[in-house]
Amino acid sequence: MKGIILAGGSGTRLHPMTMATSKQLLPVYDKPMIYYPLSTLMLAGIRDIMIITTPHDMAQFQRLLGDGTQLGVRFTYRVQPSPDGLAQAFLIGEDWLEGAPCALALGDNLIFADHLSVMLQSAARREHGATVFAYPVRDPQRYGVVTFNAQGRATEIIEKPEKPASNMAVTGLYFYDHRVVEFARKVRPSARGELEITTLNQMYLEEGTLQVERLGRGCAWLDAGVPDSLMQAGMFVQTIQSRQGMLVGSPEEVAFRMGYIDAPQLRELAQRVGKTDLSRMLLELVK
Ligand code: G1P
Repeated sequence: MKGIILAGGSGTRLHPMTMATSKQLLPVYDKPMIYYPLSTLMLAGIRDIMIITTPHDMAQFQRLLGDGTQLGVRFTYRVQPSPDGLAQAFLIGEDWLEGAPCALALGDNLIFADHLSVMLQSAARREHGATVFAYPVRDPQRYGVVTFNAQGRATEIIEKPEKPASNMAVTGLYFYDHRVVEFARKVRPSARGELEITTLNQMYLEEGTLQVERLGRGCAWLDAGVPDSLMQAGMFVQTIQSRQGMLVGSPEEVAFRMGYIDAPQLRELAQRVGKTDLSRMLLELVK
């Protein structure tokens, strides 16, 4: 399975912070935002990853992440010239995908849970259909929202409904089978002029092959798209890391634990980040 991180968009809801830099490069506590979705995809076992950015931000992402060799993965970069919707990612990546199944992670989403790797790897192994995750929130009208029937089965997903049928929002992490490009081609622009990921998910749902996994209490899903949620995400990471001494959203750690790199390579990565707590925590892993 391949993976795409969507790190485009103009980040207008974070102006002026994003007037001179990409939203997905802003700090979430001690790391650039993109480290979090990147760690998630790597934890799912995905090592071939396309990063989609805006034309003017691409060079900065390349400077930060390079070709991925240092993490034992492979990065490919593409641009999305204008923010025409999340489902466009599969059209932009079509030739690179070569008919492979693909996961999509939004560059401003952070998921943290116990046994996350088990859940991700099982979604990545599903050969037919798609998997999305639903999470209870207080402000569902900001998201794609799942309607469930009396038997608890998902019946509909509506993008940013005025009157949400449930409080279950669809998170920005999606797993699709090899037909995703075929489906994405059928998506027509919505009222706001975008190729909605919700339309794509709805197609799988109507076919009866969309798995909606419910995330519960023991899981944190945060998006860092507005000042408050950016701050909350940073404080969440800071709280866990300083209390437990465990890293959140470190692609270096994931690369090491997944066996993509060995101890000397991890030491080198730790040195690259200099005299920081992050470096110290990475070196602890080798011990
Ligand atoms: C997008 C999707 C929405 C999803 C959300 C998750 O919203 O359209 O369905 O719930 O990401 O972060 P957007 O960030 O484009 O408003």
